[in-house]
Amino acid sequence: MSRPAVDAAFSALAAHAAELRKTRAIDLFAADPQRFEKFHVALDDLVFDFSKHRATTDTIALLVDLARAAELEKWRDALFAGARVNNTEGRPALHMALRNLTDAPFVVDGKDVMPEVRATREKVAKFARAVRAGAIHGATGEHFTDIVNIGIGGSDLGPAMAARALSPYANAEIAPHFVSNVDGADLSDTLRKLDPARTLFVVSSKTFTTQETMANAASARRFVADALGEAAVGDHFAAVSTRLDKVAEFGIRPDRVFGFWDWVGGRYSMWSAIGLSLVVAIGPDHFEEFLRGGQDVDEHFRSAPLDRNIPALMGLLGAFRRNVWGESVCAVIPYDQRLARFPAYLQQLDMESNGKSVTRAGAPVARATGPFVFGEPGTNGQHAFFQLLHQGTDVAPIDFLVAAEPTAADDAHHALLFANCIAQSEALMRGRTLAQAKAALAAQGMDANAIAALAPHKVFSGDRPSSTFLYRRLDPRTLGRLVALYEHKVFVQSVLWDINPFDQWGVELGKELCGRLVPLACDSRAPLDGLDGSTAGLLAARRRLQG
Ligand code: F6P
Repeated sequence: MSRPAVDAAFSALAAHAAELRKTRAIDLFAADPQRFEKFHVALDDLVFDFSKHRATTDTIALLVDLARAAELEKWRDALFAGARVNNTEGRPALHMALRNLTDAPFVVDGKDVMPEVRATREKVAKFARAVRAGAIHGATGEHFTDIVNIGIGGSDLGPAMAARALSPYANAEIAPHFVSNVDGADLSDTLRKLDPARTLFVVSSKTFTTQETMANAASARRFVADALGEAAVGDHFAAVSTRLDKVAEFGIRPDRVFGFWDWVGGRYSMWSAIGLSLVVAIGPDHFEEFLRGGQDVDEHFRSAPLDRNIPALMGLLGAFRRNVWGESVCAVIPYDQRLARFPAYLQQLDMESNGKSVTRAGAPVARATGPFVFGEPGTNGQHAFFQLLHQGTDVAPIDFLVAAEPTAADDAHHALLFANCIAQSEALMRGRTLAQAKAALAAQGMDANAIAALAPHKVFSGDRPSSTFLYRRLDPRTLGRLVALYEHKVFVQSVLWDINPFDQWGVELGKELCGRLVPLACDSRAPLDGLDGSTAGLLAARRRLQG
């Protein structure tokens, strides 16, 4: 479907950017002492600062025009109304229902799903409380000291990220572990540290067919059966899935099975029973605070005007950089060590959602879609890849995330951490001209020839855009807000690009081909006919190396 209004809005932005190029972001601050006030939005104690973007009030107005041209508000309302926004799978995407703590209904096919959501939430909470209290225990009567989530992608990344982020809120007596990779090293390195009598496994899989998860679950089952006997298995396993039939086949007791629904996408599922291991670790009350943070953002996204709407601004500014400035990579840098897995979590959320080349109708997209997302915590990243961010030939817009205060009261390092964070965003924006570089070297007493040789290496272009999320502390509610902000940002961009962010057909082909290659990897005499030269060559070389 051609969208002339969207094309016109992008053209207007391109013309505007040509003018903006003449202005430096740092000069926009000099011109307007109120710039920070105008270019940040606060959501309770969370501040979204986008003032370091090369953007003016005209830019924001043009971005809002773009949102209107793409009918963002109509799509947002359809999302919340349970419309089948996942058109290729014929499903709604109603993860917001999972964090709805109000009495308001969420409707799928004319039916309010909230009673089922609440019942499952309560079942999870009850189970988690019993595990934490030792009322649910292992086959030998010992309390569980370890809980191992076996899942991958959306059935792993969210809970694993959150368990680390919220570790100060966790029950020290039950340690959460996350096993995802089909590489047996992942499971065996985890199991090596664990006592089977004290370990509870949670098999988390929306489809309960995922190769990696099924292989790891089968091996974990053997680990329990070998140590404690086959009869003990039921006491050491729970499962989370939409496919209750398949869970039953695996032999997990019905009272240990927690369901969810096909209107919850895998990468949007950490709010559901997929969070079970997280709930056991941090407790149901903290998990409810996490849900509340998500709900805060849903209310904000639904009600705030577009020019003060954080997910809308995140998505619009991102699309501006992607489509008008042409940047294909963006970075997420938490100055918060416990958010170390947040970039990995966002990679799935963003890249699996918006890594698409066709529109909802199946036509080629009109312009570039989702960027590559990468990141590592600061300050570590400063000593690794920040060189390129400051002086490389490509520009990557950056999201910085930082708390106003540390979670641990005894953390004396926080001022250093915070100063580093805002120094980086300032340096990226401010840059350093050749004249400034020369003056600095002259001030050090360097001679003219040496200055001429060295100064070009000390130039920073500046105007490398970043946004900063500043929150009081990394608590469950803050984490819920951050996750939901990014979920809705991804949705906003999908609307601008007219793509379906809720399917993931791009993961299928590799899975299919793997199914064909597994027998050839298992049987060293199986003929390699019909394969391309590289695939056959690598299989043959592996066989030789294995002797
Ligand atoms: O391979 C991609 C994917 O389908 C993700 O979308 C999903 O989160 C992950 O695999 C795991 O799927 P499941 O929860 O069904 O095991």
